[in-house]
Amino acid sequence: TPIRLVDYQVPAYLVGQVHLDVDLFDEHTRVNATLALRRHPDAPAGADCVLDGVGLTLEALSVDGEPLAEEAWRYDGEQLVLRGMPDTFTLATQVIIEPQRNTALEGLYVSRGMFCTQCEAEGFRRITFFPDRPDVLSRFSTTVRADKVRFPVLLSNGNPVARGEEGARHWVTWEDPFPKPCYLFALVAGDLACLEERYRTGSGREITLQIYAEERDLDKLDHAMASLKAAMAWDEQTYGLEYDLGIYMIVAVSHFNMGAMENKGLNIFNTACVLAHPKTTTDAGFQRVEAVVAHEYFHNWSGNRVTCRDWFQLSLKEGFTVFRDQSFSADMNSIAVKRVEDVDMLRTVQFPEDQGPMAHPVRPAEYQKIDNFYTVTIYEKGAELVRMQHGLLGPERFRAGTDLYFSRFDGQAVTTDDFVDCMAEAGGIDLTQFRRWYSQAGTPRLEASDTFADGEYRLTLRQSTPPTPGQPDKLPLMIPVKLALLGADGAALPLDADGNTETVLVLTEAEQTFAFAVPGTQAPVPSLLRGFSAPVELRYDFSPAQLHFLLAHDSDGYCRWDAAQRLYHAAVTRLLADPSAAEAEAAALRPALEQVLARAMDDPAEAALLLTLPGEVAIGDRLDVLEPDRIHAARGALQAELGRQLARQWWQAGQACLTPGPYRPSAADIGKRSLRHRALAYLAAAADERVASHLEALCRDADNMTDQLGALRLLVHYRLPGAAQALADFAARWHDEALVMDQWFAVQATVPGEQTLAQVRALLAHADFDWRVPNRVRGLLGSFANGNPTAFHAASGEGYRLYAEALARLDEVNPQIAARMAGACARLPRLPDARREALAAALRDVLSRSRSANLREMLERILASAG
Ligand code: ARG
Ligand code: ZN
Repeated sequence: TPIRLVDYQVPAYLVGQVHLDVDLFDEHTRVNATLALRRHPDAPAGADCVLDGVGLTLEALSVDGEPLAEEAWRYDGEQLVLRGMPDTFTLATQVIIEPQRNTALEGLYVSRGMFCTQCEAEGFRRITFFPDRPDVLSRFSTTVRADKVRFPVLLSNGNPVARGEEGARHWVTWEDPFPKPCYLFALVAGDLACLEERYRTGSGREITLQIYAEERDLDKLDHAMASLKAAMAWDEQTYGLEYDLGIYMIVAVSHFNMGAMENKGLNIFNTACVLAHPKTTTDAGFQRVEAVVAHEYFHNWSGNRVTCRDWFQLSLKEGFTVFRDQSFSADMNSIAVKRVEDVDMLRTVQFPEDQGPMAHPVRPAEYQKIDNFYTVTIYEKGAELVRMQHGLLGPERFRAGTDLYFSRFDGQAVTTDDFVDCMAEAGGIDLTQFRRWYSQAGTPRLEASDTFADGEYRLTLRQSTPPTPGQPDKLPLMIPVKLALLGADGAALPLDADGNTETVLVLTEAEQTFAFAVPGTQAPVPSLLRGFSAPVELRYDFSPAQLHFLLAHDSDGYCRWDAAQRLYHAAVTRLLADPSAAEAEAAALRPALEQVLARAMDDPAEAALLLTLPGEVAIGDRLDVLEPDRIHAARGALQAELGRQLARQWWQAGQACLTPGPYRPSAADIGKRSLRHRALAYLAAAADERVASHLEALCRDADNMTDQLGALRLLVHYRLPGAAQALADFAARWHDEALVMDQWFAVQATVPGEQTLAQVRALLAHADFDWRVPNRVRGLLGSFANGNPTAFHAASGEGYRLYAEALARLDEVNPQIAARMAGACARLPRLPDARREALAAALRDVLSRSRSANLREMLERILASAG
């Protein structure tokens, strides 16, 4: 039975103050909780007091100091219901839990000997009885008790206010002055090293910053610390928001379901999102750490000070916070490059989600398990909705809108409607129609067509959104379309009397035509949807000449990249029909690539993006029927031909992009390395005679993980001489670095071709594979299913069976991860008949055995699309 947005009701009781006393032992943990409850002013009189509590062993229960009569309460293993309670009362409970046996990594659990928590979304109910919903905001104090020697560090939210010792054990009491929902609760106990620095806020307050990790990782915390300080300064600058406690703590844990968690004053991070060192971390890893540290820090306002009324509003905090972290990363690195990266990810991951069985609105109307809705739609499409409002209002009025939002709702639990209200009010614009973006699922299609005659350019825009599960009919959206018109010399033409060369058309109807006076006799080339001004699929019948022209002249980075992508997609599509044409297709693309390469050193990062062919998965998503082998062959042939025909230029570019001196994760150096590796990839595809030894040396001798791993991947994926040795050497060298070994598993799981299935099976049995570590599971199985279409979709159906078995196994260990991994099967309805039947059969088998509601919800949705 799904939970529905329309059924929302205020909680019958609120919790003003809560004190937790958590006693950590080797076999179990005892939790004493004291809750000051009071009836909600809007709740019906006499309503029961309902507390969530999953799998708790109840040892004692009292109300206002008196044990409670048997008939006044009942506990069914999920909820504790108290009947006939007064308007205000104090509830005391004592429960026993077993964190040592918690492999679901939800609630209180143990990661490599350290106790830690993950409470969002509904993990707190696995720690103690509580109204586990985000609209109950309480003041927390927490006492943590444990063995002195093995758990010298005891942390919780807020400020430490008291500590003491009792024989072999010790305790610390923490107090968080800010009322918060229980999903922001956190607790950590362990033997941890700490990097501590200070930050002075704009108003002159000194904040202590601490990042905790295992001693062996102490040398990997500097980048996170620098990123944190940069994020704090940026939020003061950009949003006028300062940190509000005297201490900010981050703890790195190796067993973690997601990236990180914004618990008030005590963030808990997946090691993959906080540890960074040149020797073990790639450029992408450094950038991820910067982005995630900032994301969690920004949540302190967008999420914690102002939180969500219910989980349907998840994008209120996630979409907004992703928009904030994207803007931050753009400012720290390159605005144009970051935008293309974000758009690429949206189009290759979120669009397919929105067009398949898992499609759901940014504000869903119903769900079974909220864990299944931490999706790219809630996060990344949600960020696009905030970005569109930023665009519609302009930066100043958008800032007025966020000021209004944070002042009006500080300390409250609110809705996405409340957010949009603030934007409409501060912007002085009507956003009534815009709100449909939040409730309507699916990727809107925007069809553009144009005419030019008698000095008038007419552009007709037509919008439609295909049906999605449960939403057959769609209404027109408010779509901001930023555009310029390029003249024959490539310059943007003035569009009005003031000489503005760029404008935003706001489409509100299903179809509208816009007219522009354009002097002369030559039709302009439209530069459409600049900056990707709306998350839509743009259809316009660009001629190859127009695309080459846009790639050469458009001043908008997104439009240049999109033009290149369209050229590549067209070439691959033709190659699918006629595989023998690779040489000719490459020759036709060659002038465009040569021109990009000629200018590459102006902005190597952008050049690298422009020179990247769409991936096999993205190509498959554009076709009516998925044919992984033919796609692999066509794309591979094009890449190899381009590698051959431009070999001299690739070597040159690689040489020009050397980054001598010590490794730095600066945007400039990262850009050079990415272009260099792009060039090497073309040469590897072409099996250039010098490339294998070059890569071998790079893999062996480079002083940084970006070069080592990039070289290893090319050696292995293109089966170049020395690949097997390089893999073995790499493992021997990095055996003790879990995050590096995750990549070692991923490289092997993504070798194209059916023979990789045997390799994946072998790696599942590898001594270093561990079903309980999500990073390892994602490294092997996630990269296999999402990044290896020729193996996963092998005609034998063997890839599906392997994966289905793995899902069933995983479901017993960690249902959240099993369900998340099941998402890789959501392309089911697009598979050719035999494959669709094979995958559906494998998934039906898992469903019949599945124990968790998490995995069941995913499988049911996917199988419902099987037809
Ligand atoms: N709020 C966290 C973040 O985005 C994610 C937590 C997700 N937890 C979960 N169980 N799905 O920063
Ligand atoms: Zn978040």
